[in-house]
This record gives sequence, structure tokens and C-alpha cells, in this order.
Amino acid sequence: MKEQILKHLPAPLRDSVLYFDTVDSTNTQAKRLAAQGAPHGTVLIADHQTGGRGRLGRTFLSPAGTGVYMSVILRPGCLPSELMHLTCAAAVAACDAVERTVGFRPGIKWTNDLVHNGKKLAGILTELGVSPKGTVDWAVIGIGINCLQRQDDFDPAIRSFAGSLAMFAPCDRAKLAAALAEALTGMDLAARAEIMTIYRRSCITLGREVSLLRADEKPRHGRAVGIDEDGALMVEFAPNVVEIINSGEISIRGMYGYT
Ligand code: BTN
Repeated sequence: MKEQILKHLPAPLRDSVLYFDTVDSTNTQAKRLAAQGAPHGTVLIADHQTGGRGRLGRTFLSPAGTGVYMSVILRPGCLPSELMHLTCAAAVAACDAVERTVGFRPGIKWTNDLVHNGKKLAGILTELGVSPKGTVDWAVIGIGINCLQRQDDFDPAIRSFAGSLAMFAPCDRAKLAAALAEALTGMDLAARAEIMTIYRRSCITLGREVSLLRADEKPRHGRAVGIDEDGALMVEFAPNVVEIINSGEISIRGMYGYT
């Protein structure tokens, strides 16, 4: 797999890739390496993760030979407030890589699930290290893409809404991993307005009835009416009462079993 990925990568990127047959979590290792000074653009790819991590403290199942599990270390040298669109940028880059290699463009469920025909194909976990001066020391973008799984391969807890690329089109994991590494390391984060325009076009949450699910709160229902320049979701909970949502889980009515 490693040789296949390297074959598809542009030469300047090849030395930046660290490949693991098995690792606990590429994000955990990327954070460790970032703290030790690993350079901007370092890419970690694993065939198998024993402790893949998802958002909100969840696990991300990462069996061998089935997915692309990748983390990229960035050193953008800016304030955290200037990176609010980072996850959106990563989702757009991941859609580009899938489209380029698999032939269809997934949608994005706010904020960072790649979806197709009602199935979650991929998730993104971004983590930041902030220096004592308050600037971003490092950012780690972790992406897990389900490539070859069949429906029965998924854990029963997620089987009804998880999907893989191969369910919709033939998928070459090595080609996809190379395209993803290229897309993530090549992101122009300064082009925030352009990124957000593409993000909004891809975001299937916009215009839909949604529920906001937060720990220790009753679910609140509304309509997703916009996404601001930071990637926050604007939800109308009552006529002309719009709230900016930065955190929490959003369910879309009619999707993933929410009716
Ligand atoms: C989510 O859907 O909640 C986010 C999942 C992110 C999974 C990826 S796989 C590569 C990287 N390493 C991890 O441990 N997590 C991310």
C-alpha cells in the first residue's frame, strides 16, 4: 500500500509521508510529532488504527485494508480565530480528492461529514496546539474515509447510516490517499471567502429542518438558513430568530434515522 501511495504522489510530497501498517491513531501520533517539531505538511497515513478517534469523544472504527486514515500537520502561524474555517476547508479538500479519484462529489453534512445518498462516508477531526503567545503552534487535520466496506462490515451501532465509497463507485485507496494528501497540504487557507463559497454549495444541511443536540440540553428544532464566514451554522429556531451555532451535533430531518 505504501509504495502504491508514493507512486501516485508528486515527488516533492513523498518525503513528507509517514506510513504505518498499524497505529493507535494518526491524530494522536501527529500531535505527538507536532509537539516534537515535525514540519508543516507532514502527512501520516495508516492502513489500520486500533484507537481511531472521532468528534465528541467517539471512536472511529478503522479496520485494516478498508479505509484511508490520514492526519496532516499544519503550522499556519496565525491566531486560532483566523482558523475557524479550517474544518470547512478540509472538508472541501476531501470532496475534491474523492471527486478526482472516485468520480463523484460527496455532499458535506455540517460541519464535517462527507455524505452520499444519505450515508456517511467520512469524518474529520481537527485539533489545535496553541503557543503560550496565543498563536497556533500546530493544527492537525485527521480524516477517515470509508472506502471498501460492505454494509454488513459496519458495527451495528452505525450500520444504518454508514457507507463506503465502493458502494457507489470503484475506489482505489492508494490513489485516493495520494490525492487527499495533495489536497490537504495544498489548501490555501488565506482564500477563506472562496473556500466558504464552495463549502456552502456542497453543504446538504442548508435549507433543511434540523435538530440541535447538545449534552444536558433538550433537542431544539429549527431550519438551517446559512453558514457564516467562520463556518458556523445559522439556525432559525423561531420566525426571525436566528442563532449562530458553533458546536454540538446537528441532525437533519429525514437523514440518519431522524424523522
Ligand atoms: C468523526 O467522524 O467524528 C471524525 C472521524 C475522524 C477519524 C480520523 S481517521 C484519521 C484520524 N485519526 C484519528 O484517530 N481520527 C482521525
